[in-house]
Amino acid sequence: MSLVILISGRGSNMQAILEAGVPVSAVISNRPDAAGLEIAARHGVKTAVVEHRSFADRESFDAALARQIDLHAPVAVALAGFMRILTPGFVARYAGRLVNIHPSLLPAYTGLDTHGRALAAGVKLHGCTVHFVTAELDHGPIIAQAAVPVLQGDTPDSLAARVLAQEHVVYPRALRWLLAGRLRIVDGRVRLDGATGADAALVSPDDD
Ligand code: GAR
Repeated sequence: MSLVILISGRGSNMQAILEAGVPVSAVISNRPDAAGLEIAARHGVKTAVVEHRSFADRESFDAALARQIDLHAPVAVALAGFMRILTPGFVARYAGRLVNIHPSLLPAYTGLDTHGRALAAGVKLHGCTVHFVTAELDHGPIIAQAAVPVLQGDTPDSLAARVLAQEHVVYPRALRWLLAGRLRIVDGRVRLDGATGADAALVSPDDD
């Protein structure tokens, strides 16, 4: 009952997941210089690199990535700052067990530069979202969100730092729910079985 985590860089979400004690069998990066690889190794977790630049197209990269993932027979696959668009075939292979964290309150601000765009729009609340991955980028059923107030004088970096602190709280929690088999997708929305207290605050009111 463990996860494979996919990263591309710093790996702070991956580190939060490991430090929360969520079982992880391997960390795979598409970049050999991803700082998170060393952090994973320090935690005694197996690492691998599947370098996207070595492949002619997305299909062949995703096929190699899937082979590497399947060596570990994970219950679920968590994207943690994995900055590659995945093919519909890859997404279908892991349907219902492929999750991502995105630095905005989806469905607002899909894509990149979420913090700068939130500041430019003048929103008063920003945050992060853990969601199931579907073929449409940053659009899958929402598992958990955390909201962060936007403060006077915020810069993209200061706002990103406060959102990231919340990412490190919600992602391990959502992954525990997933590994415990508590998440169901009903009519495109996520139901959390047995939601109470702090858990209930992160899900829609009718799941309480
Ligand atoms: C995180 O803020 C994550 O939400 C974001 O990249 C950062 C990775 O940081 N992901 C995306 O933008 C995906 N669309 P980390 O490597 O320190 O976890």
